[in-house]
Amino acid sequence: MPLMSSDSIVENVLSRVSVFKNRSVLDRSFVPDKLPHREKQLEMLTTLFRPVITDPGSVSVVSLLVGDVGVGKTATAKRFGDDMVKVAKKKGINLSYIHINCHNARTLFNVVQSMARDLGLAIPIRGYSPREMMLLILNHLKKQNMYAIVTLDEFNYFVQVAGNDAVYFLLRIYDEYPESEKRLHYILITRSLEVLGQLDPATESYITKNIIKFNPYRSNELFDILAQRRELAFYENTVDDDVLTFIADIEGYDKGGKGNARAAIEMLFRAGIIADYEGAQRVTVEHVRKAVGEIREEMLIEISDTLPALQLHELILLKAIIRKLRESGESYIKMGDAEEEYAYLCTEVYKVKPRKHTQVYEYIRNMKSLGIINTKLSGKGFRGRTTLISVPVPLEALEKKVDELIERKKVEEKEVNTL
Ligand SMILES: Nc1ncnc2c1ncn2[C@@H]1O[C@H](COP(=O)(O)OP(=O)(O)OP(=O)(O)O)[C@@H](O)[C@H]1O
Ligand SMILES: [Mg+2]
Repeated sequence: MPLMSSDSIVENVLSRVSVFKNRSVLDRSFVPDKLPHREKQLEMLTTLFRPVITDPGSVSVVSLLVGDVGVGKTATAKRFGDDMVKVAKKKGINLSYIHINCHNARTLFNVVQSMARDLGLAIPIRGYSPREMMLLILNHLKKQNMYAIVTLDEFNYFVQVAGNDAVYFLLRIYDEYPESEKRLHYILITRSLEVLGQLDPATESYITKNIIKFNPYRSNELFDILAQRRELAFYENTVDDDVLTFIADIEGYDKGGKGNARAAIEMLFRAGIIADYEGAQRVTVEHVRKAVGEIREEMLIEISDTLPALQLHELILLKAIIRKLRESGESYIKMGDAEEEYAYLCTEVYKVKPRKHTQVYEYIRNMKSLGIINTKLSGKGFRGRTTLISVPVPLEALEKKVDELIERKKVEEKEVNTL
């Protein structure tokens, strides 16, 4: 093949037709006008925040959005915020919507500072305490006759780092000024309620009185979400329904997936990129398979990077899980089966004493939080409820890595013991 000069490569690629008419609507930060299958949550939010419009200043509303990864919590809060601001404006109410991610702003200082900045207050970075800044904010709202809905996204980070007193101060500021008009309202977002257990019971119950739940998406729901993005992002007739169904069935909660809309949209995006790369006129199921393969490979690399941090017994447990999964051919195995295999591997293969159940459970939790395994509780199919475990990457490749590390750890231990 004759060599192409680099400018003709660029020209050539650019002259290819693309299946995309607008890629930006597949960005993670894009929020569509309508969120299919989140109508109920939007309605509940509107009902809760109704006084903000009908009787401004009367109460301070606090609502908590809870649900797993990629189920539309952030998108729903933003959609709601923007829509509320529009409605308020029509009624002559000066309402602001502010979205703060506590993954970035974890301290009381950071959060109050972000609030001040987003409300348009010019506050010097240093010199004010959070309490002083908060008073400036309240004064500002009063002077401008303004109201604000503040979303604290990934609120669990704030709870963990800032602690109970900070949460109390922020959310119950009006306890200290009972006479003043209630101009601040909050939407809190978290994936799980677990971390809220660290709070005082009074604070916790104040936060959890208006919970709105977000369930993982079912396959048919993901189909509708994907169909909306197809309409916005792709040229007509470039993505058939069966492509969307295929993705929806991989991710759909009722089909054993996680029900994560972000992952589903990302799969569609990547399949489109692969189709373009191959110069195909349409996106096919085969392109989706390749996209899934790419995503799995990246996950395998990510997971492999975290494995060296595991202890010997965690690695043996992981090997047990992999073996059981391979043996059964199922996507999930029961915790009890993994534990049995683990005990077998310890005594028969590696000649070490197996750890107790509570410790094994701790290992499971740790590996889950590292993203190495997934767990869920069994549904009606099993007698009682038991923890089910799965592994998100190709088993064979992972087992090889685990084996290598087990050998290395054993050698290291021997060296330590002979010192
Ligand atoms: N009902 C929906 N309709 C259209 N798009 C949706 C819907 N739900 C989620 N999405 C899209 O899926 C992606 C993930 O949603 P979002 O960021 O709101 O999830 P999340 O629940 O906040 O997840 P995380 O816990 O990871 O922050 C976003 O791109 C969002 O626009
Ligand atoms: Mg989010």
